[in-house]
This record gives sequence, structure tokens and C-alpha cells, in this order.
Amino acid sequence: NYIFFCYFKFFYSDGYYWSRWNKCIHGSRDFSDMVFVDNYIFNKDVYIQFNSTVGEYVGYTAHGVYNADLWNKDTNILQQERAEVDRYCKHNAELYQSAIADKTVPPKVKLSSVTQAGGRHPAVLMCSAYRFYPHGIKVSWMRDGAVVKTDVTSTEEMPNGDWYYQIHSHLEYTPKSGEKISCAVDHAGLTKPIIIDWDPSLPESERNKIAIGAS
Ligand SMILES: *[C@@H]1O[C@H](CO)[C@@H](O)[C@H](O)[C@H]1NC(C)=O
Repeated sequence: NYIFFCYFKFFYSDGYYWSRWNKCIHGSRDFSDMVFVDNYIFNKDVYIQFNSTVGEYVGYTAHGVYNADLWNKDTNILQQERAEVDRYCKHNAELYQSAIADKTVPPKVKLSSVTQAGGRHPAVLMCSAYRFYPHGIKVSWMRDGAVVKTDVTSTEEMPNGDWYYQIHSHLEYTPKSGEKISCAVDHAGLTKPIIIDWDPSLPESERNKIAIGAS
């Protein structure tokens, strides 16, 4: 659940290059674990790094150590670097979060029966959730209202490549008459879970219409 961003500047001559780039790293939605890292690089080696967790510059070459010590004595430079985690990282992460991460799209759910090659049970149902964003979804099965854990397999949450995800969960079961089987899907874009009951009497095309209508 990491997001980072960086900028890159470089200057070069005669096959040498100098660059400086930084990144903001966080895993929590409230940015409380935000870390700012600022790298000074000659060719491909970091010779000075500021890491907001450490709170001061660290040098990695003789020249880097010399300059890191000088900069660490300058309270202006140090205060400016220490402020970046709020001014730059959290500020931008908030913008990205409201522009991208908070834009949830609830899944469309479809329940269907699949023919299977050689399972232990005679029947398999597939519960598919399509076109949801972001990833992080819960697909569960119920038989007469009780959650089923065994004989359930699921794909990963697969990225479509267009920001949306899909997932498919399979339930192997032995049909019993009068039994109610349901698939429940919960996602950040839903106010309450979508629950679809399996109706073996309907032809496939009718079930799809109901599933799409329900979602
Ligand atoms: C920043 O410093 C902390 C504490 O030393 C360390 O755990 C973390 O890995 C560092 N982050 C990076 C990106 O170097």
C-alpha cells in the first residue's frame, strides 16, 4: 500500500552526471507513517541522504560526510528539510488521495454455474466481481445463511490495466434440495454488501440480468 513520488534533476558533462531526487513513502491512509528521503547522487552513487526518520543528513563518501556535517550545523537548511515531510509529502499525498484513491467504484457482481473437469463435488458456482476500484474486496459464500470456508477457491484481485480490478471465487458443492446458496461481496465503494442468491431454476441469461440489476 505504498505510494511514492519523486522529482529528478540532473546536470552532466563529459560523461559525469549529478542528480538529486526524493521520495515520499507511506502505507497508512492518515499519512502518520510518512517518510521523506532526499538523495544527492554523483553518477549512480548516493553520497548524501536526508531521511526524515533520522532527521539529519548522512554522508556516504569523504566529500559527502564533509558536506553533511556542514549542512547539519546550518539550522536553516535542516529546518527546511525537516519541514518537507509536511509541506511536500503530506500535502501532495492528500491531493493524490482525494484525486485517485478516494474515487471508489463499486463492483458489478455475477453469479453463475460452471462445468468442471474433475472436482470432488458435482457442482461448481462462480461468483465474479467486475470493474471495481480500488483493490481490496471481500467475496464470501453462504449456505442457508452460514458462512462457508471449505471448498472455496479464489483468483487474485486481477488488474484489468484500466485502473479497474476483477476477481472470481469458486464454490464446489453437492446440491441439496431446498438449500439456499448465496454470494456476498463487500467493497469500499458499497454502503452495504451485495448479496446474490443462487437460483438454479433460472436460465443463465436471466440470472445475469438479475445480478446486474441487484448490483
Ligand atoms: C529511513 O530511516 C529509517 C530509520 O533509520 C530506516 O528504517 C528507513 O529504512 C530509511 N528509509 C529509507 C528509504 O532509506
